Amino acid sequence: MVPTFPVPLLFLQVLALQSVWSSAPQEPKVQSSPQTDISSLHHPTWSLGLQLYRSLRIDGSQTNTFISPLLLANSLLALEHGAKGPTAGQFHDLLGITKNDKAVGEVLTKALKYVREANGTSYTWHISSALFSKQAPKLKKSFLEKLQTHFGLQHVALEDAQKQTDMEKLQSWAKSGMDGEETADLEQALETKPGAMILANALHFKGFWDRGFYHENQDLRSFLGTRYTKVPMMHRSGVYRHYEDMENMVQVLELGLWEGKASMVLLLPFHVENLARLDRLLTQDRVEKWLGKLNSTSIALSLPRTKISSTVSLQKQLAALGLVDAWNETSADFSTASSLGQGKLHLGAVLHWTSLELAPESGSKESMHEDEDVEKPKIFYADHSFIILVRDNSTGALLMIGALDHTDGPAIHDEL
Ligand SMILES: *[C@@H]1O[C@H](CO)[C@@H](O)[C@H](O)[C@H]1NC(C)=O
Ligand SMILES: *[C@@H]1O[C@H](CO)[C@@H](O)[C@H](O)[C@H]1NC(C)=O
Ligand SMILES: *[C@@H]1O[C@H](CO)[C@@H](O)[C@H](O)[C@H]1NC(C)=O
Ligand SMILES: *[C@@H]1O[C@H](CO)[C@@H](O)[C@H](O)[C@H]1NC(C)=O
Repeated sequence: MVPTFPVPLLFLQVLALQSVWSSAPQEPKVQSSPQTDISSLHHPTWSLGLQLYRSLRIDGSQTNTFISPLLLANSLLALEHGAKGPTAGQFHDLLGITKNDKAVGEVLTKALKYVREANGTSYTWHISSALFSKQAPKLKKSFLEKLQTHFGLQHVALEDAQKQTDMEKLQSWAKSGMDGEETADLEQALETKPGAMILANALHFKGFWDRGFYHENQDLRSFLGTRYTKVPMMHRSGVYRHYEDMENMVQVLELGLWEGKASMVLLLPFHVENLARLDRLLTQDRVEKWLGKLNSTSIALSLPRTKISSTVSLQKQLAALGLVDAWNETSADFSTASSLGQGKLHLGAVLHWTSLELAPESGSKESMHEDEDVEKPKIFYADHSFIILVRDNSTGALLMIGALDHTDGPAIHDEL
C-alpha cells in the first residue's frame, strides 16, 4: 500500500528526470551527491517522522506527543530482519527500502552512531531499545545477536502473567532506560496475546544551547496551552536564524546546540491557539521550505523552562502507513526470527517513551548567559503551544519531533 502523503520534492524531480530519460536510455544514471545537504530533508527519518507525527495528532486526543523518528526507524529496521515475504515488504515500504538497496540501513546506522558520539556535548541523552516477547516460540540466536550487536536492541521475555504486570514491567524498563525520569501513562491498556513481540523505545533528551539563557525560578508566567499553567520563563536576546511565514502565521526559529552537532527548530503560531492547524501544515515540503528561508535576525527570545513526558503506542498509525500484516497472527511472517513462529509470532505493540527537557544551560561553563547587543529585536515569546524538531547536523537525521501543548506547572484558575 502506498501512503497518501505529499511526495517529497526530490522524488518528483527524479521522476521528471526519469521520464525525460526514458526516451534516451543511453544516458548515464544520475549520481546522488555524497555530500549531505543539511537544509534538505532527504534523510528517511523525516518522511517517517512527519507522517507518524501527523497521524498521532490527527484526532486531537494526544497532547505533548513526542517521538524519536531515528530510534523508531532503527528498531523497525531491526525487526524487519526477522520478517519475510509480504510482512518484510511492508517494512521496506514504510522505511523507503527498495530491492537490493542497503542505503537506508546504512544511513540510519550512521546517524545513530553520530548521535551516540555527540552525547555529552550538544546534548545528553539516555536511550533504551528492546524487543519484548510474550509466550513466544524460541527466537533464533542469530536474529537476537543481530538485534543486539547491530541495532542495540535487548531481548526480554515476558513471563506468563497478568496484563497489568506486563505493562508495569515495560514501564519500569522505560523508566530505568530514561535514567529514572518519570514516565507518562499509556492511554489505552496493553492487550497482548501469546506470540506477541513488543518493540519498545525509551529516551530522555536534554539539549545544551550554544548560548545559555537567563532565568529566575521564582519568576512564574502564564503558559497559555491547552491548559493554563504557571511556568518559569527563560530569556535571551541575540541573533538567530529565523523566518516568519505571514501566510500561515507561524514563526520558525533555529537554536543551535553546543558544538553545532545538532539544532532545535521551534514552530510557534503567531497567536494563542491549539496546534491542530499547525499540525496539518507539517508536510515535508513545507518544513523544507521553512528551513530554507531561515535568515539571521535579531530576536528577543523567551522559552518556558519545562520538561515534557510522552508515552505513545503506534500500532494504529503504523498500520495506516501500510504496516498491516505484522500485527496479524495469521498472516504475520517472522520466520527469520523463529522457524517455529509461523502463524503465531506477530507484532503486539510498538511503544515509545520520551522525556525532553527545556533548560537554560549552555554546553560551555564559561559562556553561561550573555545577551548580545541587538537592535529592534523581533519578539519570540513562547508562552503558548509550539512544535519542536531536533535534527542532527552532520547527517540531517530527525532525532525528535513533538509538540508542547501545555506545561505541567500549577494550574491557573479564574483569571481570565
Ligand atoms: C550519554 O552519556 C551519559 C553519561 O554522560 C550516559 O549515562 C548515557 O548512557 C549516554 N547515552 C548513550 C545513548 O550512550
Ligand atoms: C552544522 O555543522 C557545520 C559544519 O560542522 C557548521 O558549519 C554549522 O554551523 C553547523 N550548524 C549549526 C546550526 O550549528
Ligand atoms: C535574508 O535577509 C536579507 C536581508 O534582509 C535578504 O536580502 C535575503 O534575501 C534574505 N535571505 C533569505 C534566504 O530569505
Ligand atoms: C489476518 O489475515 C487473514 C489472512 O490473510 C485475514 O483473513 C484476516 O482478516 C486478517 N485479520 C485481521 C484482523 O486483519
